[in-house]
Amino acid sequence: MTTGHQAGLRVRVARKLPLAVDIALFELVSVDGASLPAFSAGAHIDVSMPGGHTRQYSLCNDPARAQRYEIAVLKDPQGRGGSVAMHEQVQQGDELSISHPRNHFELASGAQESVLLAGGIGITPLLCMAQSLAASGQSFVLHYCSRSEGRTAFRERLAHAPFADRVRFHFDDGPASQALDLAGILGKPRPRVHLYTCGPQGFMDAVLSSARGSGWAQEQLHYEFFKAEPAPSAGTGFEVLIASSGRVIRIEPDQTVVAALAAHGIEVPTSCEQGVCGTCMTGVLDGEPEHRDLYLSPQEQASNDQFLPCCSRAKSARLVLDL
Ligand code: FES
Repeated sequence: MTTGHQAGLRVRVARKLPLAVDIALFELVSVDGASLPAFSAGAHIDVSMPGGHTRQYSLCNDPARAQRYEIAVLKDPQGRGGSVAMHEQVQQGDELSISHPRNHFELASGAQESVLLAGGIGITPLLCMAQSLAASGQSFVLHYCSRSEGRTAFRERLAHAPFADRVRFHFDDGPASQALDLAGILGKPRPRVHLYTCGPQGFMDAVLSSARGSGWAQEQLHYEFFKAEPAPSAGTGFEVLIASSGRVIRIEPDQTVVAALAAHGIEVPTSCEQGVCGTCMTGVLDGEPEHRDLYLSPQEQASNDQFLPCCSRAKSARLVLDL
């Protein structure tokens, strides 16, 4: 797997702590004692871990304290192995390679109010945002939905935060009085009010469709998926034409575009390989992509001038790629 970004950073796990059932906190510091690069709320890092896995994790500490990075990892035995490796093979004192922070989920400037909606481990970027918004005196509310109190990472930190009065917990097994009232929270969209959401896909689909149904504009909606659902059957194959060389490469039904290009010596940088990070973004000069990513906005997808070849395919028989 290649990342195509700046040279990585070597960090040491200064602390590894249980945060909640199946969720561990990793506190990372530079191995040479230098400060780590600054980041803004919503940023994530790629973590290279034992077994050759690379995974993205949002930074959850206050961006004002970038001498260390904090990530929280939910152990997912049904996942692709990265989170299990972090839980079972990475210990306090171990060294890891990470990327520089990148941010595809930034806070909008000039907001009058921010509504943060977290589902489960999706709390991580939103916790970072809440700390940043509180530090700069901006208005916000954080709604945090989780299955139960025991599965709620950062419960204590949030309960004792200076902004605790702006945090609302919603437990699936709690009384009906504390259930998330999406329609009530989203209500009518107001100018300069921005919505940020992160969590499992079903949760985010519910939040975003409710917001869109209530008339929120796309510019007011900010979201970051951390796991795409498996793509449906790839159907028939298609071909891509490489604009710089004129080469035509066949993409078989069971092959991603990235894999087919790599088999012909054309490396496209990748990271998540699930259509959520944007690393593999490639220009499309002709043809119609079949977008399967969760990264581009509906408008960006509709313009059909770029696509994410780690997961997306083609509706037309051929795509001309700006490579
Ligand atoms: Fe992450 Fe393609 S590699 S979107």
